[in-house]
Amino acid sequence: MRFGVLTGGGDCPGLNGAIRAVVRRAAKFGHETVGFLDGWKGVRDDLVRPLPVAAVAGLLGRGGTILGSSRTNPFAKESDAAQVLATLARRQIDALVAIGGDDTLTAARDLFRRGGPVVGVPKTMDNDVSGTDWTFGFHSATAVAVDALERLRDTAGSHHRAIVLEVMGRHAGWVALATGLAGEADATLVPEEPYDEAALFAHVRRAVTEKGYALVVASEGIDLGARRGSAGAKDEFGHELLREREVGAELARRIQQGTGVETRSAQIGHIQRGGPPDLFDRLLATRLGAHAVDLALAGRFGEVAVLRGEQVVGIPFDRAIGATKVVSPDWLDLAHTFEA
Ligand code: F6P
Repeated sequence: MRFGVLTGGGDCPGLNGAIRAVVRRAAKFGHETVGFLDGWKGVRDDLVRPLPVAAVAGLLGRGGTILGSSRTNPFAKESDAAQVLATLARRQIDALVAIGGDDTLTAARDLFRRGGPVVGVPKTMDNDVSGTDWTFGFHSATAVAVDALERLRDTAGSHHRAIVLEVMGRHAGWVALATGLAGEADATLVPEEPYDEAALFAHVRRAVTEKGYALVVASEGIDLGARRGSAGAKDEFGHELLREREVGAELARRIQQGTGVETRSAQIGHIQRGGPPDLFDRLLATRLGAHAVDLALAGRFGEVAVLRGEQVVGIPFDRAIGATKVVSPDWLDLAHTFEA
């Protein structure tokens, strides 16, 4: 068999590990793999590179993706969809492994519906893909945000300030929630809960009174009502580029005005996405990449390899896409327990 593999959407730690796992697992059973460059763009435009086993040596611990990524939607136009099928036929691809988040996997589902032999691997630092307990990228990226928050603690304490750390997370607040919990934030704001300014100010005042500083973690996806910056720019899947709304800076302005506490903000942005995957993400990326190959070898196209408890299993695309996995009430309750 000839395997193809692509990585689509925002990069995150673990992608290279998943590519390596696909290549090595396929090779174990005597199959070869080619990589498509820059996500679905590579399949549409026939951009490939061979991936012999030697090409993936030493890759597991490297951030980013050697294949490149993009937010290209191959099914936005019928002519693009035809090109995708033509490339797969020309390159004699028997099985395509699509590694990505909701958008990439939705495109994979659409390809499957058109007869394409495709299986999926979920990834995203946002941890918001349904059907899987965790996505790789999340642990590593959030650890970077926790490190940032702890650095902000040093400077906030020295200057008796409040500092807001804005982290990624578009529709789900997993990154903010875990950063706030693991980094001991005094308040954590996520898109799953309505913005409550009075409560936020109370947390900040209490923290400053009790220990002399306050740390606030905010997800870029929270709704503050009034918009700032050049909001409105969208990617090919129609998602707004949220960082341009600068919710962290806006929150800092409001906190300082509302509480009288001197307040600063920091936006960690894409720094979270770079760097090596941690142990958890290396293992998860390896298991999911290998399982995707097993699904294809078993003829189980149209499925996604996911983590369920201790097990890696295959589930149909439709159970992994469409509904964003948002932060559940029990996690929110836990986070509130530790706020100031
Ligand atoms: O989907 C992952 C993610 O990191 C989001 O948290 C963030 O909003 C988005 O990607 C950023 O996208 P881009 O890399 O296109 O700026």
